[in-house]
Amino acid sequence: MDSQIKTLQEKIDQAKLGGGEHRIAKQHEKKKLTARERVAYLLDEGSFEEIGILVTHRTTDFEMDKEIYYGDGVVTGYGTIEGRLVYIYAQDFTVFGGALSETHAEKICKIMDMAVKIGAPVIGLNDSGGARIQEGVRSLGGYADIFHRNVQASGVIPQISAIMGPCAGGAVYSPAMTDFTLMVEETSYMFVTGPNVVKTVTNEEVTSEELGGASTHSTKSGVAHVTSSNDIECLEDVKKLLSYLPQSNAEYPNKLPYSIDEEVREQLSNIIPDNPNKPYDMHEVIGGIIDEDSFYEIHKDYAENIIVGFARLGGRSIGIVANQPMFLAGVLDVNSSKKAARFTRFCDCFNIPLLVLVDVPGFLPGTDQEWNGIIVHGAKLLYALSEATVPKVTVITRKAYGGAYDVMNSKHIGADLNYAWPTAEIAVMGAKGASEIIFRKEIQAADDPAAKLAEKEAEYANKFANPYRAAQRGFIDEVILPENTRRKLLKAFSMLENKVVDQPKRKHGNIPL
Ligand code: COA
Repeated sequence: MDSQIKTLQEKIDQAKLGGGEHRIAKQHEKKKLTARERVAYLLDEGSFEEIGILVTHRTTDFEMDKEIYYGDGVVTGYGTIEGRLVYIYAQDFTVFGGALSETHAEKICKIMDMAVKIGAPVIGLNDSGGARIQEGVRSLGGYADIFHRNVQASGVIPQISAIMGPCAGGAVYSPAMTDFTLMVEETSYMFVTGPNVVKTVTNEEVTSEELGGASTHSTKSGVAHVTSSNDIECLEDVKKLLSYLPQSNAEYPNKLPYSIDEEVREQLSNIIPDNPNKPYDMHEVIGGIIDEDSFYEIHKDYAENIIVGFARLGGRSIGIVANQPMFLAGVLDVNSSKKAARFTRFCDCFNIPLLVLVDVPGFLPGTDQEWNGIIVHGAKLLYALSEATVPKVTVITRKAYGGAYDVMNSKHIGADLNYAWPTAEIAVMGAKGASEIIFRKEIQAADDPAAKLAEKEAEYANKFANPYRAAQRGFIDEVILPENTRRKLLKAFSMLENKVVDQPKRKHGNIPL
């Protein structure tokens, strides 16, 4: 018995060394934790149960049978975060650069299958040189097995990808199909084709960091939802993100204990400037509404003209979509529409109620936007908010103009409660633009056209640049004082808690992609 126990212990010890001390040292030199260190940090102490520690690859080509590592470059299993069950895989860069073999993929698939059966999130910590080159198509098959499972699990369990090293070629498509992609600054990158291929094909000179580093994907492409400055911060971000989410689509997010804090928030009354063309920071409005310091922003540096993120209201998780007048006056454009649509659909999948804060002057005009398909991309947000069946509440703080009024969770597309502040302007367009069109002849004929325009503008603004026409029609349920917004929303979301919507049978809708 003793010798068998010794054999087992030796194998486990060997597995825990991954690719060996010298490769672990190299990993540390790059300011990266190892796969096992990451898992240990992320999960509650002592909660990790490993599955498949003794799995090895089956390749014999290129003398690979002489290079065998237990675990085959990925640590897989389950454990808890803040007491909640999660499934995890962490690629081990010290073993064949974390490259994905057939067996490596099988290990990932095994825990994904379990996660779906049990109904708990999957977290993937990616750090890999891509397909195991020695295995050829078997490795590609392994990727596709994972991709297929990503799709099957989509909308059933939350899937979170942290990119903590290389992630290139086909490997990028698993994170892309999960719900959230987090990236570590400086040490991670994602691209379909690397700098060398780019140079050969397009003659562009670009570094890995420029092509697909965390800052590129968090500002230019929107591929990364969150970036963190090192491994530890990234793992903390995973924990934080998870705290707002339910275990699966069959559950609701945890409601945290909540002690009544101030329901009336006077500071909200001082945010909107007197001049309607002056910007203000919508984060201040969000901060004035939600439980203190509870906002967790997604896509913070991408398409900043719209803000999306999770927050708590009375301990309850909510998703917030809000125009940001500080950037491009809060207009809707291609990127902001895509950003908000995807976030909205995530919240809807996972029973997270939506709060939409509106200050939108319309869609961004121009050839760039039209040629890049603002019609289709704007439609994504309209579609997403319209199809969402979670509780949906809107507050119009200032502008709600034109088609963008409809899109931004208007009553007409199924919002449950629509509030407006007294500063709201709900109209087809701004008073100046409207007057220039409908009073054009009158203005042209006037002795002093500028004075006439100003007069007509004031007349139009007086009539329409307010929330009262909409309130008369019931398109706005109540015009509320800003300071009472938190109180109203606490009550509204509590009242809407058990909302049920029956939908017609269909395979799935056809969102304009
Ligand atoms: N398949 C098999 N082994 C791989 C691999 C892959 N795709 N990628 C890396 N490795 C191995 C390397 O041979 C090396 O092995 P060693 O420790 O025995 O020397 C180890 O992983 C570490 O790789 P190394 O190149 O030394 O690390 P690096 O940090 O300098 O570079 C990469 C990392 C990912 C940029 C580089 O390894 C690379 O370009 N890999 C190939 C990427 C690729 O084309 N993948 C296939 C298409 S998806």
